Amino acid sequence: MGLKLADNFLWGGAIAAHQAEGAWNKDGKGVSIADILTAGANNKPREITDGVIAGNNYPNHHGIYFYDTYKEDLALMAEMGFKAFRTSIAWTRIFPNGDDAEPNEAGLKFYDDMFDEMNRLGIEPVITLNHFEMPYHLVKEYGGWSNRKVIDFFVKYATTVFTRYNGKVKYWMTHNEISNQANLDDDMMSEFMIWTNSGLQFKKDATATEKLAGMVQAAHYELVASAKAVQIGHAINPEFVIGGMLNVAPLYPASPKPADMLATQKARQLHDWFSDVHIRGTYPAEFEAFAARTGYRSDITQADREVLKAGKVDYLAISYYNSTVIKAKSDADTDFEDVQGYEVVQNPEVPVSDWGWAIDPQGLRYTLNELNDQYPGLPIMIVENGFGAYDDVIDGKVHDQYRIDYLKAHIAEVEKAVVKDGIPVIGYLSWGPIDIVSAGTGEMSKRYGYIYVDLDDMGEGSGKRLRKDSFDWYKQVIASHGTDL
Ligand code: BG6
Repeated sequence: MGLKLADNFLWGGAIAAHQAEGAWNKDGKGVSIADILTAGANNKPREITDGVIAGNNYPNHHGIYFYDTYKEDLALMAEMGFKAFRTSIAWTRIFPNGDDAEPNEAGLKFYDDMFDEMNRLGIEPVITLNHFEMPYHLVKEYGGWSNRKVIDFFVKYATTVFTRYNGKVKYWMTHNEISNQANLDDDMMSEFMIWTNSGLQFKKDATATEKLAGMVQAAHYELVASAKAVQIGHAINPEFVIGGMLNVAPLYPASPKPADMLATQKARQLHDWFSDVHIRGTYPAEFEAFAARTGYRSDITQADREVLKAGKVDYLAISYYNSTVIKAKSDADTDFEDVQGYEVVQNPEVPVSDWGWAIDPQGLRYTLNELNDQYPGLPIMIVENGFGAYDDVIDGKVHDQYRIDYLKAHIAEVEKAVVKDGIPVIGYLSWGPIDIVSAGTGEMSKRYGYIYVDLDDMGEGSGKRLRKDSFDWYKQVIASHGTDL
């Protein structure tokens, strides 16, 4: 038995354009930074190739063909009773190169039709402007977000879509999971994260310090671009609700040793400044001290600071999948100038998924409380949460009780956070309600959906959609406002 959530709670699901649409070069779309990521595998990172190279498997080129099937797919979401659906606009459908003088009308029209369809079905669109999909041309020509000029390109893109979809879309968010790139300690994924957030690639022998410096400056430009977009969006329509978006994973100390506690706090601070800038419009004090000491964020102007203050977000969008444990590398460590001071270790207290992600529902309630302590009263929308798992189709059915178990446990914690702890959570959009290409590995076989898509890791298959057991389960959760879990 779950706890009842408000009638206007936004139940639904979330995807991103590059993981679903396919049609990577159709109707004038340009090449994005996702279009040159090859397929990886469980424990094998994706490669970033120098342009599209014939013979490689680029899973985002086909996705799940959502570009052509979105009407049928949205009808299935409506059947589950979705109140909201999050997707992103592929920046390269609107500005194929990023620096084009005029937007691509065919791309604009595609989203007009898609948002009309959502509204017709009574599904509120929740739209991400930049979900790991910047134009590749901006990387080749300008160096991605290491270049201040990219702020203007982003602002032009945001202004174009805010204006065009005014009246069709109310909920927006700027950059997806902007703080991922701070995970420079993640040996396997850090290259992917700095690429997808900022379009940066470091030399193989780059030091942790060089990476941190590059990331901090690029992120500053992204935050300025976000704040400008928020201001412009509000000027276009004061009713727009525009958020910042972060992945939140609670950081637990490996032990009560003071060095582990301090390392955990420092690791948290390495991520927290993103949300502070989005929400408070200022960098936190310890970050200012760090930036002044290291010079890593050398290009910041007074005008930037004013923009940040004037462009505070209306809500915080979060993704939550797992929790993390932090261990100091040395008991004597007091130097956290770079990411060398600590390491991420396994939590022996919680199980993990087949991809090694810790399964920790209580961590979600903990995180929601932490966020509300930090930013009291700020509305929070959970825009990603879910269980990537291998599914078997047996006689046309997928019995995914493991996924139901994961989601049930997490939703129960959200309900406690709302009803018992008073946290203003306004929606729960589970990740990948229909199977899509995994962002991290490029696999199709890492499935999150209530709807099975018959495609394999090579993109082979009929593309047919099947309702899994979790489909009916989620339908009943929504219909009962969360009481029937
Ligand atoms: C988030 C991203 O990091 O996690 C999504 O915003 C991504 O794009 C999701 O798909 C799950 O990660 P993965 O690697 O399992 O697809």
